[in-house]
Amino acid sequence: MNLIEKAGLMALHRVDPERSHRLALMAMKAGFVPLSGTYTSPALATRLAGLDLPNPVGLAAGYDKNAEVVDALTQAGFGWIEVGAITPRAQTGNPKPRLFRLSEDQAVINRFGFNNEGMDAAQSRLAKRNRRSGVPVGLNLGANKDSVDRAADYVAVLERCADVVDFVTVNVSSPNTEKLRDLQGAAALTALLRGVMAARDARDKPLPVFLKIAPDLNADEITEIAGVAREAKLDAIIATNTTLDREGLKSASGGEKGGLSGVPLFEKSTRVLAQLSRDLDGALPLVGVGGISSPADAYAKIRAGASAVQLYSALVYKGLSLVTEIAKGLETHLAKDGFGHISDAVATDRSAWL
Ligand code: FNR
Repeated sequence: MNLIEKAGLMALHRVDPERSHRLALMAMKAGFVPLSGTYTSPALATRLAGLDLPNPVGLAAGYDKNAEVVDALTQAGFGWIEVGAITPRAQTGNPKPRLFRLSEDQAVINRFGFNNEGMDAAQSRLAKRNRRSGVPVGLNLGANKDSVDRAADYVAVLERCADVVDFVTVNVSSPNTEKLRDLQGAAALTALLRGVMAARDARDKPLPVFLKIAPDLNADEITEIAGVAREAKLDAIIATNTTLDREGLKSASGGEKGGLSGVPLFEKSTRVLAQLSRDLDGALPLVGVGGISSPADAYAKIRAGASAVQLYSALVYKGLSLVTEIAKGLETHLAKDGFGHISDAVATDRSAWL
């Protein structure tokens, strides 16, 4: 991190977290944030579910919920980015405050509850993005809080936005919309994915469909989800979303309701990833997300079974320069361990997490 970035982060951390994030997005939109450009190398360029990623380091959903700064983000060093969550209709989300910084734990708690401007706004912004960046852009699909048919919501957003994104993620793992996580149960998930995959297959162009799961699942539930995902011929699974766990936190805001992300989530999410990797044994590619804040963390996710990674919370503490630092650091780890390409390292240390 350079001095300007450090000063910027210090200033942002003096303001309420939600306002501060808004300011960061506005600064990016206005072109005030220096961007490093896409980072790539022969060892890092990789294929994920048919997508060509310049590097495997991705932006996790929730950072750019309304696809406001997609073009800037594709120039920030990421190899791929995910925007959203987007629901069919705009909704305001939960009352404020609903975003908390847990600095001593290098963590974040949020209970946003899918605040977003809805699929029409997202579609028109995404339609205007620069598609020549070479950085795939995906959309996190959500359901409206008051929807009577949540499964239909995922299909509706997919159909509305499919032409303007490179992949979609079925997010059934946000803890902030009541009963949303119930959609992870085998019967509900099978029915939901049947509808989503039928909508996807009805299109003439390929659109990879990912599933994002929670870290708060037991071993049997993980195995069940792996089976359903394989049966449905999903393109990848993202593990994981935020946790309801609150173990070992030091920060004053540690008791706030919502989903916890950042460093304290690292181990739990990596164990879920490793179990999925064992259960699926290469049948589907996996994305590791949860608590990545250094190159070593990203490398550990790869070695636990991930073909690519995503991050969000660490950007709050370390800034966007972390992205290229992680990509370059991955190259160093690969070279040190004698791997010629990132794909050679996938799942090579899985057993350590089981
Ligand atoms: C998120 N996350 C998230 N995930 C998702 O699938 N849809 C969403 O809309 C959001 N929104 C969201 C908002 C905020 C403020 C945070 C911090 C997180 C979860 C995110 O994508 C990721 O899975 C977790 O944060 C774990 O990764 P990190 O943050 O530990 O790197």
